Amino acid sequence: MRTDMYDKGQLLIGGKWVDSSGERFETINPATGEIIGDLALAGSSEVDAAVDAAGRAFESAEWADMMPDERGRLLWRLADLVEQNARELAEVETLDNGMPVTLNEQFVLPNVISVLRYYAGWTTKITGATSPVSVPGFAHHTLREPLGVCGLITPWNAPLMILVWKLAPALATGNTVVIKPAEQAPLSTLRLAALATRAGFPPGVINVLTGDGSTGAALVRHPGVAKISFTGSTEVGKEILRASADRLTRVSLELGGKAPSIIAADADIDAAVTGNLLGGLFNAGQICAQYARMYVHASRIDEFATKITAAVSGMGLGNGMDPATQLGPLVSAEQLERVMRYVQLGVDQGATLLTGGERATSGGLAQGFFLRPAVFTDVADSMTIAKEEIFGPVLSILSYEDEDDVVARANDTPYGLVASVWTRDIGRANRLARRLKAGAVYINSLPVQDPAAPWGGRKASGIGREMGWQAIEAYTEVKGIWTNLS
Ligand code: NAI
Ligand code: MG
Repeated sequence: MRTDMYDKGQLLIGGKWVDSSGERFETINPATGEIIGDLALAGSSEVDAAVDAAGRAFESAEWADMMPDERGRLLWRLADLVEQNARELAEVETLDNGMPVTLNEQFVLPNVISVLRYYAGWTTKITGATSPVSVPGFAHHTLREPLGVCGLITPWNAPLMILVWKLAPALATGNTVVIKPAEQAPLSTLRLAALATRAGFPPGVINVLTGDGSTGAALVRHPGVAKISFTGSTEVGKEILRASADRLTRVSLELGGKAPSIIAADADIDAAVTGNLLGGLFNAGQICAQYARMYVHASRIDEFATKITAAVSGMGLGNGMDPATQLGPLVSAEQLERVMRYVQLGVDQGATLLTGGERATSGGLAQGFFLRPAVFTDVADSMTIAKEEIFGPVLSILSYEDEDDVVARANDTPYGLVASVWTRDIGRANRLARRLKAGAVYINSLPVQDPAAPWGGRKASGIGREMGWQAIEAYTEVKGIWTNLS
């Protein structure tokens, strides 16, 4: 991998790559522990400069008066550039956060490209309405207007994909943005911003501030920011919502999850094993949609547990750059330690560990943060591993007998992002899908994604929906215009 392709670790402010006046930080490759990037840590003066630049770009004739079809063309051009550079972007992402490069190439990059093209198409289809008002002598119509400067704060688990879920609708609707990627994996965001500049977005429309939580917090508090869209932990999501109260900054939050997956007595167990394996261990379980609680009907639990344990222990663990790798490392030493603490809690609280749960160090993995995927059975709802978001390769199998009971148990969580149902009975599938409290329910499927499908959570999983028409709404404000007809 060429290292000269990485930028100099600068910030993108007002169309120029600039150094920060203050500190720097490093990002590492979690498969090897090597330092792969040295980056500017944006402080409050850089946050001021970026928000000012984005504010000026928002008011500029070049952006504000740009015709919708031209905005669409820019997004489409960016999608083309991402497509032409897909291999490089996939590798950058793999080096920085560890996700296997095959997953990046087969799932992440195609999603990124299709989201950009989907919102390129929306630019010319964002309509208002005429309102049938009953005030004599008046007509009324609505417009959807952009909000202004949007702060996009993203996590490390799928940085490029989650960024584009926010960036594409924000730009399609005519906003300008200040992006704050996660400190653990900021490199792909810088590459994308460089491609956006090449695509022709005017200076200041897209700004990037690398940094840590303090950079994010300064962006949230900045009076020039109209909206924050955040994906990350529930704890930080709550802090952002509190910080937004004084100025009523618009906030969208996509937070954690603890998805239940219900495997009914009549399920196709082989299909359920494959789907739950992917739903549970995609990106080493570091996804908010992870199928974390597998509720299996008591009559099928032994078969399911035996088969999924065999499948899990056969998965190829290794450096994500190796095309044979199915499971990469965890993103950091902290995340590894955090997940191993949960495994220990599972054992201490009486769950049965069927496989994995220990650090993998042989075969050149010692310098990385690798964990052998763990499968627990005999898990009770009261155990910590069944309650808290682990964000790692740890699967819990729980037993159930009665449908009403399993629905109540599945819903008894602070989270509500996704849920899954496995059954051959179409009535049961739809009955359960309606009763589960989640933003999305997958019937006989792993958690697939599409730009046309709204995405987001209930309860502590967040506020608002990304993708679909819902994201157009989330980045615009409705204005009503009254015309006196006399
Ligand atoms: P985090 O919520 O601390 O970080 C996410 C982003 O927020 C990063 O860009 C970070 O720099 C920024 N940030 C941190 N503090 C901030 C603040 N006060 N104001 C504004 N921005 C701030 O998540 P972290 O610590 O990386 O991961 C911890 C746990 O969070 C994970 O183990 C997982 O359970 C959950 N998580 C959920 C994600 C999801 O997709 N919903 C993604 C990442 C983490
Ligand atoms: Mg990294």
